[in-house]
Amino acid sequence: MDRIRIRGGHPLRGKIAISGAKNAALPLMAASLLTEETLVLRNLPHLADIATMTHLLAQHGTELSMAGEHPGGGHMGHVLALRTGKITATEAPYDIVRKMRASVLVLGPLLARCGRARVSLPGGCAIGTRPVDMHIGGLETLGAEIELDDGYIVARAPQGLLGGVVVFPQVSVGATENLLMAATLARGEVILENAAREPEVGDLANCLNRMGARIEGIGSDNLRILGVDRLSGTDYAVLPDRIEAATYAMAAAITGGEVELLGARPELMEAVTAALGRANVRLQPTDCGVLVSAGKARGEDDPGGAGLLAIDVTTAPYPGFPTDLQAQLMALMATADGAAMITETIFENRFQHVPELMRMGADITVKGATAIVRGRGGSLHGAPVMATDLRASVSLVLAGLAAAGETVINRVYHLDRGYERLEEKLSGCGADIVRLVD
Ligand code: EPZ
Repeated sequence: MDRIRIRGGHPLRGKIAISGAKNAALPLMAASLLTEETLVLRNLPHLADIATMTHLLAQHGTELSMAGEHPGGGHMGHVLALRTGKITATEAPYDIVRKMRASVLVLGPLLARCGRARVSLPGGCAIGTRPVDMHIGGLETLGAEIELDDGYIVARAPQGLLGGVVVFPQVSVGATENLLMAATLARGEVILENAAREPEVGDLANCLNRMGARIEGIGSDNLRILGVDRLSGTDYAVLPDRIEAATYAMAAAITGGEVELLGARPELMEAVTAALGRANVRLQPTDCGVLVSAGKARGEDDPGGAGLLAIDVTTAPYPGFPTDLQAQLMALMATADGAAMITETIFENRFQHVPELMRMGADITVKGATAIVRGRGGSLHGAPVMATDLRASVSLVLAGLAAAGETVINRVYHLDRGYERLEEKLSGCGADIVRLVD
């Protein structure tokens, strides 16, 4: 099982190319089930989860062809052509769904395209039970008949899906995406109230409209979809990954460096920019993306200057501070001056990184959904640590970049699900980081 070894203390300096967003690519790939024509997706990241989605779609009957590396060499996003002329199977099996929760995003498209679906319940994961009751409830509002049988969601809509008003009791990215895709082929008008406003939802909606859907209110929490008879193919480029960009922004900050994030879109990162600004980290738009520079450490050419400052943050649905950056922020705060209060409101168990960060010397106290992080500037030391989920893993990478000594991270397959060529991108900016292949 691969491990990553980091020797900390090197300020990151240089440029990092930001890849296409995993959490936009996955629903966009599922949307290919909605049409018998070809959907071409560009700027797809090279990630394990993308491969898992291709396997899932292939067993539903989707033909996929992947254009390889950028013709001029170098690493550009994948170009993937997906065509589902005919859906040959409507079951999403447990052995695929258990590996990747986003597999549940085939439920809406299968139901809309062929009136039936049998999708394994995704089950929980490290960060929480992650039920799908809002996906199911929303589809029932549109006339689907759904029952749970043997750990599977068995859904039928033999007469097709109907119009209706779906009110989400809490904001759910996946439920919004499933309902949005299902609604495009419904007979009538569908209203989604309290819909998720994440940019990845907007990316999906924009692509669906390019395919002939009629979606209004994109970017708001109230989406109005007028169902159409069929959708056509299109050619669509996936938006850049704002979570990856902000993760590398914090890598620059925790090492006291300066990095330009190529392709990052500052307008998708406003909450992060505001929070990091309070921590004395500057994110400035450039012609190519975003330039990140950490505040001067005390004693450098600005004796009165402050290093990283502790800040209080509460995670929230977009446009609030993303839960997918909570673990990374905690690592950053472990090296800041002062006590930071970090509150997680989206998932019930998203502090798995805490014990591992504490093994590296972080001073963290957890009380329910809130963690108090007492940074003591430069107080982390390297240690062997364990990755538990995608974002917890990368918070250990950030800590390792700042820690004195050597950090070895085990179970890095978690990282490979969401960070493309992480070691390459970081070592290209001066980090001492290598993958140990056993
Ligand atoms: C998406 O997960 C992302 N994954 C997650 O990113 C992200 O953390 C999350 O949205 C929140 O932004 C993808 O887009 C593939 P939710 P999703 O439905 O859709 C509860 C990463 O690291 N809920 O918005 O599964 C749920 O338990 C991943 O890239 C219900 O109770 O998240 C959670 O507490 C991790 N019933 C809250 O809502 C439901 O039917 C928000 O979940 C659905 C969700």
